[in-house]
Amino acid sequence: MEPDKVLEKINALRKELDRHNYLYYVKSEPEISDYEFDQKLKELEALEKQFPQFDDPMSPTKRVGNDITSEFVQVKHKYPMLSLSNTYNEGELRDFDNRIRKETNLEPEYVCELKFDGVSISLTYENGILKHAVTRGDGYQGDDVTANVKTIRSIPLHLMGEGWPNEFEIRGEILMPFAAFDKLNAERVENGEEPMANPRNTTSGTIKMQDSSVVARRGLDAYFYNVPSQIRLSESHSKNLELAASWGLKISEHLRVCKSMDDVLDYIHYWDEARHALPVAIDGVVVKVNSIAVQNDLGTTAKSPRWAVAYKFKAEQVETSLLSVSYQVGRTGAVTPVANLEPVLLAGTTVKRASLHNADIIAGLGLHINDIVKVEKGGEIIPKIVDVNVAARHPLNRKVEFIKTCPECGTPLRRVEGEAVHYCPNETGCPPQIKGKIIHFISRKAMDIDGMGEETVELFYNKGLIKGIADLYVLKAEDIASLERLGEKSAKRIIDGLEASKSVPFERVLFALGIRYVGETVAKILAKYFKNIDAIMEATVEQLTDINEIGDRIAQSIIDWLAIADNREMIERLRSIGLQFQLSEEELAGTSDKLAGLSIIISGTFEKHSREELKTLIEKHGGKNVGSISKKTSYLLAGENIGPSKLEKVKKLGIPMISEDEFLEMIG
Ligand code: IVH
Repeated sequence: MEPDKVLEKINALRKELDRHNYLYYVKSEPEISDYEFDQKLKELEALEKQFPQFDDPMSPTKRVGNDITSEFVQVKHKYPMLSLSNTYNEGELRDFDNRIRKETNLEPEYVCELKFDGVSISLTYENGILKHAVTRGDGYQGDDVTANVKTIRSIPLHLMGEGWPNEFEIRGEILMPFAAFDKLNAERVENGEEPMANPRNTTSGTIKMQDSSVVARRGLDAYFYNVPSQIRLSESHSKNLELAASWGLKISEHLRVCKSMDDVLDYIHYWDEARHALPVAIDGVVVKVNSIAVQNDLGTTAKSPRWAVAYKFKAEQVETSLLSVSYQVGRTGAVTPVANLEPVLLAGTTVKRASLHNADIIAGLGLHINDIVKVEKGGEIIPKIVDVNVAARHPLNRKVEFIKTCPECGTPLRRVEGEAVHYCPNETGCPPQIKGKIIHFISRKAMDIDGMGEETVELFYNKGLIKGIADLYVLKAEDIASLERLGEKSAKRIIDGLEASKSVPFERVLFALGIRYVGETVAKILAKYFKNIDAIMEATVEQLTDINEIGDRIAQSIIDWLAIADNREMIERLRSIGLQFQLSEEELAGTSDKLAGLSIIISGTFEKHSREELKTLIEKHGGKNVGSISKKTSYLLAGENIGPSKLEKVKKLGIPMISEDEFLEMIG
């Protein structure tokens, strides 16, 4: 194809994909199937790979994220990002309305909006192209998180339509929808990690992550609600947002123009109830004067505009009685106390249980059985006990004492110094821990054993067919087929599934072992770095923490797990059964030790390889790709356009720079 024809084709595909992104993520009205979308994206990817001269950082193919940010640059806001004054009752809201009437001598028109509970962001578009995404920071300057924000599919990389100013700025909120939050937490629990407490904290952690490809997978969304009044778009706030919507930005459909305070209160009462059915968290309603001229007349204080106010919903609370406390033992042995409550209606659902987290929380509340407790459902998903009605306590109520032994196996519990959690240390003999480990082992992302699930594991364990992971591989079809609910067909499926799992790659076998803190990503890193299980079994804490992504906590957990004789024995059994405990020939091909002991930092843009490819090459040849410059850095692998501050640092520390060609020569 002629180069200009290629470019034409690339541009047409980019435009088409941008539009389908918009239809899917902003309008929720897709016109094509996910499959068709993926086909088009693949076509574009192939063309871009073949014709790197037409690369564009704003291409829809870049939404998967391939940037590593070692330090977020602080950027000054052109217009300060103000905050809002809060009200908690209707009286204060009427005061706000009266003040505005008095100051303006007008019948004000208000816009009511949802107050999104996420992380605020300011986007700058230059000539219709997204240039910067900056967090609020202290209101005057924030962090440049553009690389991460670009992965949020509902945020346009190019403005659509026409009429936008060449320099355009808009503010909004980045959020993690409940569905994405639940998915992430399910994954964390499966990996033996603590679940995140609420979507807002998770969003703020996610937006500051260094690896944008992780951000891309987290399913963030964003709503926009304010164009700085210095940018004169139209005469009203509601029209400004309509214009922004026509340019492809996601504006909430729940905005309402209100002619009176009664309308405003109606809106608030409605959403105080209806908020529980929204896909994202809100914590109140924002009331804004609609006319931009009136807004400008009213002006701002140092902290917040005088033309807007936030009405915050109260976290819903209700009183009920504490029936008992039970203790759950998880896959990792962590013991979680749970309060069993007299069922009560709260925030649209019946609450029967509340999490108590750990012994410190119980002691802090001074809980007694049969106490009348106050339960709250705030930003957190699981309700919590916030208070005890001590005055109403019967003198004979018994104090809640945290259990001393495991409710499942009787082993004395342990508590790590400085940590709040109690553990059952009987890793290899405590039923929920064993069952949990087997369930993890067979799960989709681990060994993916066809025909098995949580219930089959439960059944096999309870019938005494399996006592641990390795026993799975000595199961006989006739034993399985003789169990209720499972016939010959299911038995065959399971036996075939187990046989097939012998070719599951090393990194997934490593993940399947269920070592605390060794999730999918860590397992992948370990497999790539050490290449086989023997090297991992011999590794010291120092060797483990030498890897960029592995800290003390992960390293110690690996060492501790491997120190248990039962675990080593299990590895040997699984190895003799034929599971993969080393990288395949294919994965080993093209690897060497040529860069062993070297830490290399990659900076700039390159001609022959993407940064991701260079990173892989460094690792394949035994080197370490590091994120920030220090005295220990061996080389700076330098491309085009390296930032001046980085250059200066490298020179100061005397770190040698090598070009892409020199690097390729080094690895032969
Ligand atoms: S307007 C100058 N509208 O609430 C006015 N803010 O407590 C700028 N927020 O920092 C804010 N939803 O992060 C506005 N519909 C909405 C909002 C909203 C959430 C956040 C925003 C702001 C904070 C103030």
